[in-house]
Amino acid sequence: MNLLSINDLSNEKIFRILDEAQVIQEQRHPPFLDLTAALLFYEPSTRTKMSFEMACKKSGVDLLTFTPETSSVTKGESLYDTVKTMEAIGADFVVIRHHKERYYEELMNLSIPVINAGDGTGEHPTQSLLDLLTIQQEFGSFEGLQVVICGDILHSRVARSNAYALERLGAKVLLVSKPEWQDHSLSFDYISMNEAVEIADVLMLLRVQKERHEEYKDDQHYLKHYGLTVEREKLMKPNAIIMHPAPINRGMEIDSSLVECKRSRIFKQMTNGVAVRQAIIHACLNKGGISYDLTH
Ligand code: CP
Repeated sequence: MNLLSINDLSNEKIFRILDEAQVIQEQRHPPFLDLTAALLFYEPSTRTKMSFEMACKKSGVDLLTFTPETSSVTKGESLYDTVKTMEAIGADFVVIRHHKERYYEELMNLSIPVINAGDGTGEHPTQSLLDLLTIQQEFGSFEGLQVVICGDILHSRVARSNAYALERLGAKVLLVSKPEWQDHSLSFDYISMNEAVEIADVLMLLRVQKERHEEYKDDQHYLKHYGLTVEREKLMKPNAIIMHPAPINRGMEIDSSLVECKRSRIFKQMTNGVAVRQAIIHACLNKGGISYDLTH
């Protein structure tokens, strides 16, 4: 089955994926699948693509390599025809990152699962699941946690997926953003960065997407007003953690010295991405420990 949006998953199904990921991480011997996947990344990626590759290798999934720049995409082939080609030559599932929001609506006539690895400024459900696993490992539950998501909310697929999921799971979600990057279609309150550091159990920083903001390149100004400075970190609750989906603009969203500080779970998030993506593959393919249809 497909995983296109975090809203495809009920709370119960989210918890089953997190449990499966935890078991995979502890056992180190997840079920070995005999499948082939195509990773179709039309936008750059390091973490998502590499951790899907690692998850596939650890799960016994062969990979079809695909680079848009050297494929028939350069001759104008559509996303639909590209994915139908993967299906025709024997891919068992596809993982897609694409610049078009809701690109998957073009892909309804497929018999193989689609896993969304990011659709424009839409959603990033697999990032959300690895973030949820990181928070669950830290606090044991989401109920009553104060999670503050800070940054370019308007253009962030990570913010959207996480805000939806965390609210459903019982966390209190608050946002920090400069006024022109606020998304008022989301029903969460905005607070200042100074308030955020004092109340957050989880301070989730977002990357400033410089490729979308040619006019905004003043790192120091951003850090001072909206970022996590060394002074602000000192005001955080004793057990509060710092998260960031990365890549990080060191010295912009966060002072570089804090990226690997005691509170930071940034590299833990990346580690968790592998087990979570293994669990997602098992779930979408109805293999391994999860044998249920994710969409029902
Ligand atoms: N967090 C994340 O999606 O990183 P990449 O763009 O490197 O995949």
